[in-house]
Amino acid sequence: MSNTIAIDPLRTLGRLERNVFGGFAEHLGRCIYGGLYDPNSPHADASGLRTDVLDALKRLNMPVMRYPGGNFVSGYRWRDGVGPKAERPARTELAWHDVEPNTFGTNEFVDFCRRLGTEPYLVVNAGDGDMREARDWLEYCNGTQDTALVKLRRAHGYEAPHGVRYWGIGNEVDGPWQIGYKTPEEYARTYTEFAKVMKWTDPSVKLVASGISAWDASAVERVKLLMEHAAAHIDYLAIHWYVGNDAQRGYRDDDFASYMALSERIEDMLVATEGVLRAMSRALRLGREVAIAVDEWNVWYRTGNEEKLEEVYNLEDALMTGIQLNALIRHARSVKMANLAQVVNVIAPILTRPDGLVLQSIFYPFELYSRFARGVALDVYWAGDTFSTPEHTGLRVLDVAATLDESAKELAVFVVNRSLEAREATLSLGTRASGAKAFVVNGPDIKATNTFEAPDRVGVRETGLEVDGDTLTYTFEPHSVTVLSVALE
Ligand code: AHR
Repeated sequence: MSNTIAIDPLRTLGRLERNVFGGFAEHLGRCIYGGLYDPNSPHADASGLRTDVLDALKRLNMPVMRYPGGNFVSGYRWRDGVGPKAERPARTELAWHDVEPNTFGTNEFVDFCRRLGTEPYLVVNAGDGDMREARDWLEYCNGTQDTALVKLRRAHGYEAPHGVRYWGIGNEVDGPWQIGYKTPEEYARTYTEFAKVMKWTDPSVKLVASGISAWDASAVERVKLLMEHAAAHIDYLAIHWYVGNDAQRGYRDDDFASYMALSERIEDMLVATEGVLRAMSRALRLGREVAIAVDEWNVWYRTGNEEKLEEVYNLEDALMTGIQLNALIRHARSVKMANLAQVVNVIAPILTRPDGLVLQSIFYPFELYSRFARGVALDVYWAGDTFSTPEHTGLRVLDVAATLDESAKELAVFVVNRSLEAREATLSLGTRASGAKAFVVNGPDIKATNTFEAPDRVGVRETGLEVDGDTLTYTFEPHSVTVLSVALE
């Protein structure tokens, strides 16, 4: 059977926010210490930041970075991480059972963000922390008047306010694993009180409520309750997901087709969240939409590796990254931020050793999407070959999304071929093109990984393509992620 991909530039789904290509860095394992920050590495600059990691992250072009957790934040005391390093206390840390040295904190993070060209997004402690601590942190960061907290920031060497725009209130409060796990009613109350004082401290901030991380039968009901009690103060509702080719994270253990079919679950999570947010916004006569922030997403197997959460990703995980990004693009109307969890070492596209790093398979689709997805998301029609699994029938082999940047006259089509065979497709572009290029993420087989010994098994190849007016015929390689970048006339 042949495949058809039909683009109509008028069928727009909504503007794609660049913030969907955000990242997330947590005080966990070797993400901060040994990852972003490693004064003992030969790659460290004078401030201890790893320049090789910064260079690799720059390629991912992440516009926003969430920090400092994650589960970690529910026991975090921000004051421990500011001021002279020699005076900063080390603390036992209960989320990941570590000792937190606090030699990297708010100001080091903001410096790192400035170096990277990304915007900081801070999450406050709504676990064992209180609203005073949260509003103090906000004033320390963003305050401009001559208050004690602003003077403290200045004394720490930061005359100008950090101007942190995005603030999350708590992390995964719906999870029993969380310090300060809450019922929706309890969280709505906490959230409202935190939000009030934070907005009074700086009315310009955008606040993110912790929505769904436990995708159980009552997940939607919890969001409904949260909205009922706190909607007026919510700018973004956060949802989290992690997927994997195993029985815990996916439909079944090590089954490629079932793994690729997780697109259905991702779709379900997005549709369910959109549905309850829209219904509640209307019912409450909110007069605006609450945006979705998928502020943690990735592949995560929870393997028992020695270093915490240091997953080694293979090619099929790169395909899964493409599938997740395609879903975010297709839901551009409601998803206004997303954060790859995480950025270095911990479930991350980059793995470091003191003397170097390796770019994992999932690095490449993220890099390409972040580079080419621009402008508006398009509602693409596509049909053709299908596959089935015990859970699903009639799934399209090619998973497709597209964006159009009218000002640059560039169309980008994102295709994951979730089959072990090549698939030919005819693309009708809906408008005349002057040229096209294909960028293909692939490797020898779906289990191929990049390691320090063999760092390039999975990578990107670029080829020029012939376009016939408004039609392009292209054969998608087996098990590949392809970005077709089309220059329009
Ligand atoms: O990203 C790793 C962990 O996953 C985060 O700390 C937590 O929010 C989630 O459960």
